[in-house]
Amino acid sequence: MMHNRRVRWGVAAMVACAAALASMGLGPARAADNPAPSANEKPRPGQYLGAPSCASSHCHGSAQPRTAYDVRQNEYLIWLKQDKHTKTYSVLSNALSKRIAKNMKLKRPPQEEARCLDCHGLAVAEELQARPVDLADGISCEGCHGPAGGWLAGHTEEGWTHQRSVEAGMTDLRDLVTRTEVCLGCHLGKTGTGVDHELLAAGHPDLVFELVNFSAAMPAHWTPVSRKKARADRPDRNTARAWAVGQVVQFRESMHLTARRAQSGRWPDFAEMECTSCHHALNGGKERQLRGYSLAAGLPGTSPARVAVFRHVLDTFSPDDRGPLLVSVDRLAASISRLFTPHETVAVQANVLGDETRGVLDRVGSTEIDDALTRVMLLRVAGDGVFLNRADLRSAKQVALAINALAGALAEHDPKWARPEVAKTIDALYDDVSGKGDYDPQRFVKHLAAFRRSVK
Ligand code: HEC
Ligand code: HEC
Ligand code: HEC
Ligand code: HEC
Repeated sequence: MMHNRRVRWGVAAMVACAAALASMGLGPARAADNPAPSANEKPRPGQYLGAPSCASSHCHGSAQPRTAYDVRQNEYLIWLKQDKHTKTYSVLSNALSKRIAKNMKLKRPPQEEARCLDCHGLAVAEELQARPVDLADGISCEGCHGPAGGWLAGHTEEGWTHQRSVEAGMTDLRDLVTRTEVCLGCHLGKTGTGVDHELLAAGHPDLVFELVNFSAAMPAHWTPVSRKKARADRPDRNTARAWAVGQVVQFRESMHLTARRAQSGRWPDFAEMECTSCHHALNGGKERQLRGYSLAAGLPGTSPARVAVFRHVLDTFSPDDRGPLLVSVDRLAASISRLFTPHETVAVQANVLGDETRGVLDRVGSTEIDDALTRVMLLRVAGDGVFLNRADLRSAKQVALAINALAGALAEHDPKWARPEVAKTIDALYDDVSGKGDYDPQRFVKHLAAFRRSVK
């Protein structure tokens, strides 16, 4: 079993996010016995029906897990009572949101602001609502599974298949690429400029994501495939593969985000850079002068976080692509750091790089990933001290998440990886990046060595 560690960190010493520590209360009691729509309402494919449409106790609103079908049927109550996605809208009226809105000089309250609702609400155009979709429900079922208009009635019929649902508009979350894209739609940003430097400076937490850890941190309303009856039609659910696919898609989507930012008219976006290029005390300058600069003295470095772990995915699955891709990454980094590179140049470089990952994704899909290979990847990530000694906090977070995910994948078959000595060294890595103090790369690298010793 993977150790399910917290996935949220503050921005080191810059944002004190008390709300992040607030405990998760139970959602309001709600009528859960809402029958499926009658035939004469005829919702169309692409239309949304809202969370109550899934909540009947005969459908997904059972109080206890059931065994009649291949799904648990208590998904609704797990989501309602335990899942943070029910809170995405209500947090828009908390004190932090008010501060963000004030700093951004928003004309409307955050609950009405498209820039916030993009990720914090299931804001559906009126004509696409077959039944009223309540923003206050937060990210409900259709926020991830897609609009149910085309399949709600059908998918309860005998003999109906997952494939038919997908053809009728259900999002195919069984597909790892699609699943990562869905999560990143909000945990990175699918449109616009995401959580850019304006949002960060206003007080928004920096977004961090990794598919395996974030999936594990969601209260599971699904049955692990290993315990499913109908396994034959399921793609390989190897945890290490989920991690690797997640890494490639995350790199690609972050390139597309950079391109959108460059084209947004609000460029340069400092969120692309190493925060400490600008946010540091001048009396600590000596250390930086001794360390040297990645591009040229005095220019802010581009954050290496997007390649901190992705480099090892390339090494493992696509060694021939590694050289050329990393040269392009360096070229893009230089374009971003020289703040006045024409923004079209940045956008083109980023988009091309994102598209160049297609071959890598194919290779991840076609490679057999056994425990031996998983171990190789893990030790590569954990053995990267030279790179990490110079890298930023965001890179270290990606490394900590990768180690937890891959050690968790190995622990599924070999209890050695779940021993307390190993868990303790991973905890130390998480502490290093938790934002409780200044991030110290050397301490992190020392803790990486301790991790490697613990798994010898
Ligand atoms: C690109 C998507 C995106 C946008 C745009 C966005 N957020 Fe967020 N926001 C998130 C995600 C994802 C989290 C959770 C971060 C985590 O835990 O990893 C979050 C967290 C927060 C939190 C902390 C919640 C808590 O539980 O403490 C607040 C407050 C917040 N956002 C307010 C806003 C406001 C106000 C706006 C608009 C001005 C906004 N957000 C825009 C995605 C977004
Ligand atoms: C934040 C995203 C998210 C939300 C919100 C969400 N789900 Fe899911 N759901 C998932 C993921 C991811 C899976 C795992 C998919 C898999 O393993 O095939 C899943 C799996 C399921 C499954 C099992 C599917 C299968 O093929 O075995 C059911 C049923 C389900 N969800 C129903 C619901 C219902 C009902 C709601 C609302 C009450 C809901 N989900 C809300 C992401 C979400
Ligand atoms: C439509 C937007 C949206 C989608 C899609 C989405 N999320 Fe989220 N998610 C959010 C927001 C916003 C928050 C912050 C909620 C809060 O702090 O109250 C969040 C919070 C979370 C948290 C809690 C983080 C914490 O700090 O405890 C986890 C875990 C998570 N999401 C995982 C996922 C996964 C896995 C997927 C894909 C299967 C996914 N999310 C899809 C918007 C989304
Ligand atoms: C190119 C320089 C530059 C970079 C790089 C940069 N910032 Fe800033 N940041 C600024 C400036 C300028 C301000 C406004 C400072 C002020 O008025 O106090 C600011 C303000 C802030 C603030 C609010 C004031 C504070 O110090 O708390 C936060 C939070 C912040 N930035 C976070 C970040 C994060 C996180 C990153 C990295 C992802 C980052 N910044 C990268 C220049 C930069």
